[in-house]
Amino acid sequence: MKLVVVLLLLLQVSGSADSRCFCEVTGDLDDCACDVETIDGFNNEQLFPKLQTLLESDYFRFYKANLNKPCPFWTDSSHCGLRDCVVQPCSPNEVPEGIRSSSHNKYSAEANEQLNECEKTQHLGAVDVSLSDETREALLEWNKHDDEAERFCVVDDEESPDSQYVDLLLNPERFTGYRGPEDWRIWTSIYEENCFKPYTVKRPLMPGSFHSSSGGEERTFYSWLEGQCVEKRAFYRLISGLHASINIHLSARYLLEDSWFQKKWGHNVSEFRKRFDSELTAGEGPKRLRNLYFLYLIELRALAKALPFFQQPSFRLYTGRPEEDQKHKELLLQILQLARSFPLHFDETSLFAGDEKEAAKLKDDIRLAFLNISRIMDCVGCFKCRLWGKLQTQGLGTALKILFSERQIEALPTSSNRRPSFQLSRQEIVSLLNAFGRISTSIRELKNFRSLLAEEG
Ligand SMILES: *[C@@H]1O[C@H](CO)[C@@H](O)[C@H](O)[C@H]1NC(C)=O
Ligand SMILES: *[C@@H]1O[C@H](CO)[C@@H](O)[C@H](O)[C@H]1NC(C)=O
Repeated sequence: MKLVVVLLLLLQVSGSADSRCFCEVTGDLDDCACDVETIDGFNNEQLFPKLQTLLESDYFRFYKANLNKPCPFWTDSSHCGLRDCVVQPCSPNEVPEGIRSSSHNKYSAEANEQLNECEKTQHLGAVDVSLSDETREALLEWNKHDDEAERFCVVDDEESPDSQYVDLLLNPERFTGYRGPEDWRIWTSIYEENCFKPYTVKRPLMPGSFHSSSGGEERTFYSWLEGQCVEKRAFYRLISGLHASINIHLSARYLLEDSWFQKKWGHNVSEFRKRFDSELTAGEGPKRLRNLYFLYLIELRALAKALPFFQQPSFRLYTGRPEEDQKHKELLLQILQLARSFPLHFDETSLFAGDEKEAAKLKDDIRLAFLNISRIMDCVGCFKCRLWGKLQTQGLGTALKILFSERQIEALPTSSNRRPSFQLSRQEIVSLLNAFGRISTSIRELKNFRSLLAEEG
């Protein structure tokens, strides 16, 4: 009798939707010395709550973006008509004075004026006052140019009249009804044309080949992927992780009820299963979820590495309210220390560790591919998806920029008498933390979906 119960239980476990989504999402991750369970505990209990608080602060909730750039690759059929796609930009008086007025580069003249007198003296002393204005400007220019060469993303011109502040808390990422051919087109062009993949190798589950797949395509695809160097494999997995994360948000904030008197967003389990159940995705779903964890680790690593930059006394989360700014800087540093304390990071010493010339070429390939992906975001028809797409690619691009600038960042505290060798703009900082906030939320949401699926049995 007992045996039967146990067997029944076993059957139930192995056959449930819960296990079909999560069976492979456990234990060690490939290319990485860490396991899923440790990440879950660390994120859900420690990091996620702190990060949520930080992202509600004024410094992080206002993001400036240009949502009106034309798509450089094809003519898009804009979805401005969809109600839930509309992004409500902020009116100027909603954005704190400090954010609007500073040009966010703390080495710029305006920023210097905002420092108090004491700091100003220190700062100018550090910058070397013997420089003529002309030389200093030239240095700034050079710095800008230099920076351009290190960029992984197109940064929207903050001065452009088309750029507007958006309050991220009032424009949450959620299901908008934007899907179908255009959505496919965006992701297809990213995977097909920007992930180093030759056309001859077909991605599993390409639209149109859904049910025809005999498993041959998958085998070809994964053996191609295995044959790639670790960096290009990593690149593909980051993009796949980002895609998974976005789909988790859309399933977790699905428009469940839409009537004239109320709108209700919430978890849609069947939407989640459609994306991640191994049976419904020919085995792809769990792999996507593993890539999400991989993305999480890469961004976590970048945060840990960026600590010395944010620790600089001259760095501020400037909004014009000194007490709050100081409090939020402390919270940010706590979060970064926490990221640093996580022991089982992806080992990126194996990245770009090969022949120096080859490594430089590879880094550049990856940078250019990523730059192109950020341009594709201007082709996303739905404005709300475009906003969050831009923010998340920019955040990931900033993370990559940090990871590839490790030496410059480590040198920062001692390099005060030279021009700073590493710099992040406010836009990069806001996107870095918000993008990571999205991934962190996704990991947290997986816990919800796990229990919802377990309830369904
Ligand atoms: C950039 O992306 C577009 C659209 O997917 C593609 O047609 C083009 O080949 C890509 N360019 C580079 C340099 O990767
Ligand atoms: C959940 O999503 C599916 C599509 O995956 C849709 O058909 C269904 O209506 C949604 N459920 C609710 C309650 O909105």
